Formats: sequence, structure tokens, C-alpha cells
Amino acid sequence: MEYNISLKEMNSFHLDCKAEKFMRVKEERDLERLSEYYGKEKIYILGSGSNTLFVKQHYDGIVARIENKGLRIISENGDNITVEVSSGQVWNDFVEWACENNYSGVENLAAVPSSVGAVPVQNIGAYGSEAKDVIDKVLVYDLEKKEFKYWTNEDCDFGYRYSKFKYQKGNLVIWKVVFKLQKHFVLNNSYKALKDKLESSNQTIITPKLVAQTVTEIRNSKLPNPEILGNVGSFFKNPIITKEQFLRLQTLYPNIVAFDDEKGKKISAGWLIEQCGYKGKRIGNVGVYEKQALIVVNYSNASGKELLDFSNSIIETVKDKFDIILEPEVHIVK
Ligand code: EPU
Repeated sequence: MEYNISLKEMNSFHLDCKAEKFMRVKEERDLERLSEYYGKEKIYILGSGSNTLFVKQHYDGIVARIENKGLRIISENGDNITVEVSSGQVWNDFVEWACENNYSGVENLAAVPSSVGAVPVQNIGAYGSEAKDVIDKVLVYDLEKKEFKYWTNEDCDFGYRYSKFKYQKGNLVIWKVVFKLQKHFVLNNSYKALKDKLESSNQTIITPKLVAQTVTEIRNSKLPNPEILGNVGSFFKNPIITKEQFLRLQTLYPNIVAFDDEKGKKISAGWLIEQCGYKGKRIGNVGVYEKQALIVVNYSNASGKELLDFSNSIIETVKDKFDIILEPEVHIVK
């Protein structure tokens, strides 16, 4: 255990929150040690910190950073390969490994800043793919029961930026994730900008590696680099509203950006925020990114409270104008 540790370099908003107690969890016996504190202390499980907003400057409990490493092929046949990856691995390192070996399934999720363990939590998604389509099962450690258990894909109950891990009571640690990848590459170019860019590249042979490179280029052109400008990618989820509400809004706003969804219509939160005049807006140390209104940024030494207040002002303005309540996608730690 370490004490009074700054988390500034461990969260992509670069918030200078200090953890009263801090533990690096590298091996199974570290999990057992951590479980001794369960129920006695507040515990926050931290991955790469790329989707966390620490509201306070002090965390009055234990921050446990998951740092286990490893990648192991479990099984293989002519069509698929099943790989178990430890939670502490960098997500994009795994994507690169898959692409180098010509395994397909994760290439559209290239360059998402995340640890592997955080991937199932909110079922990361980008450029036409979602992690749920390649997650076979998840090895979970229960700090309360002190035992490991595999959760199948169905157990996780994945949805858009959702899984059962997202709203758990804090007892579950994702320790390893088992992915099932394809050996025969199937191009997913359902996302228009990706399709256009691949076509204009004039490459005759499209590989997972080329897709990953192209996705990375698109991401870099739209999203700020968290090393330079603190951010957590999309701050909000794209809200899903009923078809009726959508039709009413469409008569008022014919240019509204929406996509079909099984529950109704998914509205672009970036568009809603942009319509409220927030795109590129800066208040003190915080603001909305000028190229993508879904990204809230820390320009310099913002506090978590400033970021939270600013995001609440966005929620209120969007609610007043469109009668839609935006939900944060980022994990807010109070
Ligand atoms: N749009 C605007 N104004 C904006 C931003 C977007 O009008 O400021 C409209 C445009 O019409 C644009 C459309 O919204 O064409 C969609 O924008 P984009 O493709 O950038 O996607 P997004 O819905 O804003 C989602 C994910 C991103 C992911 C991209 C690409 C969520 C919450 N976000 O953003 O994920 O990279 O799609 O697939 O679903 C993340 O989760 O951190 C993240 C970056």
C-alpha cells in the first residue's frame, strides 16, 4: 500500500486528485490482499483512467490500479482464435497484436484509449464496431466472496455503452477478458467516413492492419490527444429517444442527426450540444473541443468540480432546448 499518491498521470483529464491509499494490483495475491479491505474502506478500481472524472481533489479510500499483464492463446481452429488478455494490458497493444497476425474483429476499435479490463465495462464502440461482438467471456474476481468466476457474454448483458459491470456495487474486478477473433477477415465499413477513406486510399488489398491505421487517422483528425489536451473521449452518451419524440423534434429541426436504434432513435449528442452554441466554447479552464462537441476538455489546471459544473450546464441547456436529458458516458467519481 502507498499513501497520498497523486493520480494526475493516471487519468486522461490530468486531474490532480490524491488517493489517500493506493495499491497496484499485479498478481492474484494482490487481489486477495485488496479483498481484505472490502466493506471496510471505499475502493475504486482504476484502469488506464481514460474514462474517469475525479470530482474531488482527494479520494478518501483505496484506489486500486489494475496492472496485471499477459496474453495467452486458448484455442484455435481454421476459422477462429480465442485469446485471453489480462486487464492491465493496453487495449491498443492488443489491437496491434491482432492486426499484425491478421486476426480480425478489433481493427475498427483501434486507438481507443483504454486498458483491456475497462473494455467490457462500457462495451467500447467506435467506427461501426462494438467490443461485445468479440468478447467471449470475462474472468471476474469478487472482492466480497473472494472468488473468481467466468461471466459469459450473455451474463454481461451488453448494450450501447452498457454492461452489468457499469452499475455494480464495487465488489467486482475484471481480471482477464477472453476474445474470439476471426481468421478470415471480414471488412466492416458501415461507418461512412471509414468507407470513404479506405476507398480513396486506392489500396487493392484491405487488411485488418490497414483498417486499424485508417481508423487511427480518422480518430486523430477528430479527437484531441489526451497527452496534449486532457479529455476522456465522448463525455456523454448519444441519447436514445422514442420515434414519436424524434418526429416532433424533426419538424422543428429538420437537420437533426439521428440513427436507427432498436429502442427508437439514437440522436447525435454532439449535434445537440453544437446547436446549443457550445462547440469550441471555453469557460475558464474547461471547454468543448472545437472539432467535436461531444468532447469536454481540460485546457490547463481545471478541477474535477469545474468540469462537472460545466458538463451540468451543458445538460441543462440541452434539456431546455430539446427536452432531452444527456447522460454522462464518463465514470464520475465523487
Ligand atoms: N456531429 C455534429 N457535431 C459534432 C459532432 C458530431 O453535428 O460536434 C454529428 C455529425 O453529423 C457526425 C455525427 O454527429 O457525422 C456523428 O459523429 P461522430 O462520427 O464523431 O460520432 P459520435 O456519435 O459523436 C461516437 C462515439 C465515439 C466514436 C464515434 C465514431 C459515443 C458516445 N461516442 O461519437 O466514441 O469514436 O462515434 O464511431 O457513442 C468515446 O466513446 O469516447 C468515443 C470517442
